[in-house]
Amino acid sequence: MKQAQKILNGNWTGRYTKPSPGLYPHQWHWDSGFIAIGYAHYHEGRAMQEIRSLFEHQWENGMVPQIAFNPETLGNYFPEPDFWQVPGSRLTSGITMPPLHAIACLHIYQHAKNRRRAHDFLKEIYPKLMASHRYLYHHRDPAKTGLVYIRHPWESGLDNSPSWDRPLKTIQVDKTELPAYERKDLTHGVPAEQRPSDEDYDRYVYLVDLFRENHYNEAEIYDQCPFLVQDVLFNSILCRANRDLVEMGKIIDQDVREVEEWLGQTSQAIRERMWSSERKQFDPIDLVTGEQLPTATAASFMPLFAVAASQEQARLLYERLNSVSFCALHQGNCFTIPNYDMAQNEFDPKNYWRGPVWININWMLSQGLKSYGYREKSDAMKKDMIQLPVRFGFHEYFDSITGKGYGSDSFGWTSSLFIDLVYDYYDEDKQTLNWLGWRKSRKLKDVKILNEAPGVIPMPAVDLAPKLMSSIGELKDMFYSMDRGLVDYEAMKRSEEYRSYLESAAYLKVFDLESLMTREEKLAFWINLYNTIVVQGIVELGLNASVREISNFFTHIAYNIGDYTFTPDDIEHGILRSNTRPPYRISPVFKGRDPRRTHMVEPMDNRIHFALVCGSRSCAPIRFYEANAIDDQLETATRNFINSSEVVILPEKNKILLSEIFNWYKKDFGQRRDIFRFLRPYLDQDEKATYLKEHMDTIEVEYLFYDWNLNH
Ligand code: GLC
Repeated sequence: MKQAQKILNGNWTGRYTKPSPGLYPHQWHWDSGFIAIGYAHYHEGRAMQEIRSLFEHQWENGMVPQIAFNPETLGNYFPEPDFWQVPGSRLTSGITMPPLHAIACLHIYQHAKNRRRAHDFLKEIYPKLMASHRYLYHHRDPAKTGLVYIRHPWESGLDNSPSWDRPLKTIQVDKTELPAYERKDLTHGVPAEQRPSDEDYDRYVYLVDLFRENHYNEAEIYDQCPFLVQDVLFNSILCRANRDLVEMGKIIDQDVREVEEWLGQTSQAIRERMWSSERKQFDPIDLVTGEQLPTATAASFMPLFAVAASQEQARLLYERLNSVSFCALHQGNCFTIPNYDMAQNEFDPKNYWRGPVWININWMLSQGLKSYGYREKSDAMKKDMIQLPVRFGFHEYFDSITGKGYGSDSFGWTSSLFIDLVYDYYDEDKQTLNWLGWRKSRKLKDVKILNEAPGVIPMPAVDLAPKLMSSIGELKDMFYSMDRGLVDYEAMKRSEEYRSYLESAAYLKVFDLESLMTREEKLAFWINLYNTIVVQGIVELGLNASVREISNFFTHIAYNIGDYTFTPDDIEHGILRSNTRPPYRISPVFKGRDPRRTHMVEPMDNRIHFALVCGSRSCAPIRFYEANAIDDQLETATRNFINSSEVVILPEKNKILLSEIFNWYKKDFGQRRDIFRFLRPYLDQDEKATYLKEHMDTIEVEYLFYDWNLNH
């Protein structure tokens, strides 16, 4: 965190922040937005100044330029103002970039300690943001399609993305007619193989030349430009920015109808016109040919960030995003997510926008995934985004296979988004917990029996256990998302399946526990029952933020089974942990000769900790266990948990971050060496696993904060 702040301080010029010290000495459009997002956490004044400085260069037509040049550092970059020759001798380039600023401004406001000042800032910046969006809708969408076009690859932010290969190829460049130019990007020590090619540059220059000749007249350019593309990333950011602009407008009492209209049009157009049902992804549209440009870059997932994709589209995107093409969960030999499909011939883990991992793209996508509930993947991406800079330096981009940092060092948005992520990852959870603190929680006076269905007179039945399990299975099919490990409590409560489960659960009163014969049957029965009683408790008590809303949740809801009562604590600590003392308690749950002891599942299996779902985000994702597969299922659950963001090895810090579960259950997992020994066979076998093996004695252990927010 300190290092990231040091980099931003070093790149800060007094008015704006350079993307990096050498390669990018001026102010860049979307970089400023990303950078302000990091500042918002610790230097609000600077966050606002960053945006203000950029908007001082806004054109009269509303366009916010891609680069605002610093007159004091001219001479180190190409192309500079002498080449752009924009009207009015402005010190800017003549193109724009993805309109991220409304998103950044709302973020600044939401994190501001000085709300009043942030409110004033919103009032000041709102009309400028409106003008910039108006420019886009007016000049870049003349046919009123709801989608705006870019007219230069640099406007996409992903300069040499493979998406642009096809339209660029159609541009025939006559070298003798091209204005003379000299690339400066190769003079800062970044190898050519990590940068765009000379052929690309010729075309970039060709387009700039065309703009100059047309004096930056948008209508003329639209008629002549061979590169006109409705880009997925650009439009997704615009769509999300509209969303945030609506919110911002409401905060400062503006009439937001115009923005709402843009928002509606663009999200619909993304969903309907950019979606390729054949390729099951979003593709840009080439306005010159009228055809979609089928490519395989991470930009295609960006409608998740816009929250413009339908649920079904999101599901299909997720399938692709979480596959070997973009580094799947637990794949172990790559970092999430590369900017280009790893299975394609053109994939290059080192070359700029043609394969490496970029923090800004991942930052947006992990938010998008979270919005659609794909929390496990979103967390895994966060984990990579935190570990890449810590391990390999705050670089511009990272090798998607080795993690090595490339491009420029001390990179602005890598640092600022790292700050945002660390804040979000560790501190925000703490705040939620404080907000939920014990003081605000309530207590149940009596134990609430949850398996009493009025009107059902339970009769002994032979096949009750399988019936109950299949009823739980039905709930799982309908309301548990296996990809996401989450539960849709709301829909479940209203469903027929839930009512029918309640009826089966009522039969537990006459259930003979002796009928569970094998260890496997017992394990599956008790684990499923634990998970279901917790789910039912959340539904019946109407909890909507956390199980911590009820301070004695785990001891005051129960099922009557046979002649006994079982709370979740009885099941976990009594039955499944062989009556081992619960953490922070002085005695075990079954005292003295408690007859429930005869049903303990012995010997205790540590892996239950990765299968028991306590209704919170930091516990294992919910699954359904079957007696005939339970061992494999527990292995998988354990492996998944250990390779999730609940166990993070940071070799450079000689540190391992562990889930609180290992802290609470020292009795089960033992001390540090025992824990490491337990982890080792489950860890993805990469260099971090080796590191742990070799540094078991010295590695420092830190326990992660436990996220008690509801897993919905
Ligand atoms: C490159 C990137 C662009 C970025 C700029 C400054 O041109 O492609 O996205 O804004 O560098 O960091």
